Amino acid sequence: MRLSVIQFAPKLGDTAANIKRIRELISSEQSDFYVLPELANSGYNFKDKAEALEYAESTESSTFINALIDLAKENDAYIVSGFCEQEGDNLFNSSVLVGPEGFLGVYRKLHLFLNEKSIFEPGNLDIPVINTRFGKVAMLICFDWMFPEAWRKAALNGAQLIAHPSNLVLHYCQKVVPSYALTNRCFVATANRIGSERELTFTGQSLIASPDGEVIIKAGVDNDQVISADIDLSLAHDKFITVRNDAFADRRQDVYGNLNIDG
Ligand code: ACM
Repeated sequence: MRLSVIQFAPKLGDTAANIKRIRELISSEQSDFYVLPELANSGYNFKDKAEALEYAESTESSTFINALIDLAKENDAYIVSGFCEQEGDNLFNSSVLVGPEGFLGVYRKLHLFLNEKSIFEPGNLDIPVINTRFGKVAMLICFDWMFPEAWRKAALNGAQLIAHPSNLVLHYCQKVVPSYALTNRCFVATANRIGSERELTFTGQSLIASPDGEVIIKAGVDNDQVISADIDLSLAHDKFITVRNDAFADRRQDVYGNLNIDG
């Protein structure tokens, strides 16, 4: 399967322009699976919840998600993207997975970063692991990088690929993500954005990491870019790191628990 990560600079409050740019970038690279940044419909650095509400959409009637579904059907591909989700009076910093078959699922960011705590509710949909025709996919969003438990839980529940839409402003995540790929023996695709919004500058360097912890490909710091790799998701079934060490079976759950797998 060909996996592509799209790095660009979503425009704050301009969903139509963001859909147009995503369409251009997807058209520039034929692939089976695209991963886009966090809040790719709306931009990131809202002044307050009132501003974020102007650009939020419900999953059931979202112009942005419908545009992604059109793109998925036209390209016979899967797409993961961050989006600003409204449910009643609440906002969530969410990620959606769509495919040629339509809408497949949503994840709501569990760990909110800095001012996001004044705008969004913390995620309440657990960490879904979703079947695609290439394999099982989970989504995490940006600052979730700080919490190894989330990555472990996704992998223990069968995720062969963790798609990771991001709007990173610190410089740690790109170092730690390959380690999560290694310790969970799965693929990770971090799609970061570039550019600046108000006082924040985003750090680019989107990447695809392999179950061996190798960075297969990495984008630049400040350019729009589509990075791609041909990967075999079945490699993520092999949890052995030596002939006698299975990264999952060797865990000492008697000492540190089982992370409530499947629940
Ligand atoms: C972040 O979670 N957007 C840094």
